[in-house]
Amino acid sequence: MSLTSSSPSPVVLVLNGPNLNLLGTREPEVYGAHTLADVENMCRETAAELGLSADCRQSNHEGELVDWVQWAGREQAAGRLIGAVLNAGAYTHTSVALHDAVKGAGLRMIELHISNVHAREAFRHHSYLSPAAAGIVVGFGVEGYPLAIQGLHRLATAAAHGA
Ligand code: DQA
Repeated sequence: MSLTSSSPSPVVLVLNGPNLNLLGTREPEVYGAHTLADVENMCRETAAELGLSADCRQSNHEGELVDWVQWAGREQAAGRLIGAVLNAGAYTHTSVALHDAVKGAGLRMIELHISNVHAREAFRHHSYLSPAAAGIVVGFGVEGYPLAIQGLHRLATAAAHGA
């Protein structure tokens, strides 16, 4: 091995689902003024502080999110990825497919919501993702993303040490 080569940083996947591309203009009284690009930059900074690299993706399509969850499970199994932070947006409340994908892929996943979904409409109170999540971050605004990455890193480190 050459002195200049080094193994790539472990990856944390940050997945945002439908309508989160509209952050900054979408209901700012609920979701705040930060754009998705701002959020992704915050995630990259937090990841770098932890020696990780953040892979940030957004899709409005359920099947694409399922594909990415399956890929992330394979990367986690290969030791290249510590897990995922998933804000599935409205699919949280509807998607058995995403629940099955997280469980089937064995993905270490933190469920995230910018708003406190439990203080909102009743249809947001149920999550298909929570039973498949390693942890949940709800209601911290976009500051929840760095918190979720930190929490995921702690869980992955503990798992690596056999906790
Ligand atoms: C959300 C909450 C969901 O109920 C909603 O459909 C979203 C965003 C949040 O981040 O607070 O799209 O996941």
